[in-house]
Amino acid sequence: MRTVCVFGLAFLCVILGGGLAGAQDAEAPQVPPKTVGISFEQSADNVFFDFQVDTETYNRVYYNTTVRDGETLVKVVFHNEADPSTQKFVRLHLAQAVLPSDTSASTTQDGAKLTFSKANPGQRWSNVVNFASDEALSGTLPVNVAGNRVDITATEFQDVKDAIVRSLDRVEGIQYTPNDVDAIASQFGEAFDKSTPYCLAPSLCVCKPPFVFDGTKCVSADLWSDFQSLIVSQSAVQVQVEEDKPLRVLAEQELLQLDEGSFNAVFDTYQKRAARQQVWPYMLYSQTFKGSDVLVVGAGMTQFEPLVLANTGCNVTVVDTNINNLKLLNRIADVSDVDRANLHLVYAPTLDGLGELSGNFDVVMALDSLTRAPTELLEGAYQVLLSKLRVGGRWIQLAPSKSRYLAEGSPSYADFARIYNRHLGVPEEKVWYEWLDLRKLMKILGRTRTRFQIVFEGELGSNPAQFPDNFQLIDLLYLGGSGEGR
Ligand SMILES: *[C@@H]1O[C@H](CO)[C@@H](O)[C@H](O)[C@H]1NC(C)=O
Ligand SMILES: *[C@@H]1O[C@H](CO)[C@@H](O)[C@H](O)[C@H]1NC(C)=O
Repeated sequence: MRTVCVFGLAFLCVILGGGLAGAQDAEAPQVPPKTVGISFEQSADNVFFDFQVDTETYNRVYYNTTVRDGETLVKVVFHNEADPSTQKFVRLHLAQAVLPSDTSASTTQDGAKLTFSKANPGQRWSNVVNFASDEALSGTLPVNVAGNRVDITATEFQDVKDAIVRSLDRVEGIQYTPNDVDAIASQFGEAFDKSTPYCLAPSLCVCKPPFVFDGTKCVSADLWSDFQSLIVSQSAVQVQVEEDKPLRVLAEQELLQLDEGSFNAVFDTYQKRAARQQVWPYMLYSQTFKGSDVLVVGAGMTQFEPLVLANTGCNVTVVDTNINNLKLLNRIADVSDVDRANLHLVYAPTLDGLGELSGNFDVVMALDSLTRAPTELLEGAYQVLLSKLRVGGRWIQLAPSKSRYLAEGSPSYADFARIYNRHLGVPEEKVWYEWLDLRKLMKILGRTRTRFQIVFEGELGSNPAQFPDNFQLIDLLYLGGSGEGR
């Protein structure tokens, strides 16, 4: 017989036996594989989660459901009754689909089963789980007890109070009360809550400051304290430096240092290859936008889009936070007959610098330049860029697609960058690469209360997929803020 404990306002432990009867659908979508097997089923009124563990080892199960900002969070811990530190943890972030107050649990042959009532009976959910994690949060808090500073380390859901008592008992002569323990436990509770992601849609999670979501958990945002790390556009080309030697990657610094002859040769080779591997139909766009004022965010050289646009007759402004990208683009423009009257290069090392751009552009294009830093930190940059677009203008964005991200097994954004970079051959620095789709973009722009018409959203690239050419193209017509435009 195994025990199911329910944490709520009152601490309630019930002993349950047997399975759970109920009408269930045959279809059983799988939640991403975790160390605890999870399967999900639904009937008209309920959703069911079946957890599979080694029940010999993990013979006791706890769960805790809470609602925060409309998201239902379920934490399930399987552990060994005799040795509680032998445990498996699962946290499920559920959509606003279920009534957490109306939950029941039972043990099964293979583990446990949780049953929730649907908020809207009859509604079918193709995906109730927005995100799942098997990493219990763990942290160290410095606390002050009776004039002693003690560093206490505890893990979510393990008995936090036990951990606190054990740490305090290690301090010689310390006097503490149960109230002290309660207070510290609630500090841990708050710290864990603060560093648990909020998941708004499948795989779309964010963290609250000072954290950012890294694809798997909340991490510190410290790495991105300077603006230049937020808008990142890469310049790196693979070239054959010497005959019969493997391809080498040259980043913008190295490219700038090349003498004229080598530079021209490298540029020529790269250009020919880039022309064969068009990632997105920029030729089409350059025709469409002839005569328009186009703001391109990021001068990083991949397909030479700004130059193509300028030569087709668009009035192109390229803004970048990296001066070397601009120098490089300038150098290429010099050697390649670009209509210089149509090409304006602007260095914007700060958000204010971005703000100084003249407004009223017909088109804003962010070609994979707002994808290499955490989404949570980019809201300001997005808002400034959007303020440069005239009502009726087009917002065009290229980013890694979500389907590619999911196909790679939903890795951390650093690992996702490594996957792309391995294929691109880009040197590893501050690696981060986030997928984007319309829903995520709308979430980022949500506070601007702006309206758009979708012109196009879809995945582009070769089929079967060939790195690095699977991208989401988002093309929107800007209708202005609420009340404006129409
Ligand atoms: C259940 O979770 C909530 C929110 O994370 C937390 O405040 C509460 O302390 C938890 N209950 C237990 C017994 O862990
Ligand atoms: C081209 O763009 C630049 C920079 O935005 C602007 O100053 C200039 O007036 C534009 N030229 C034309 C002909 O519209």
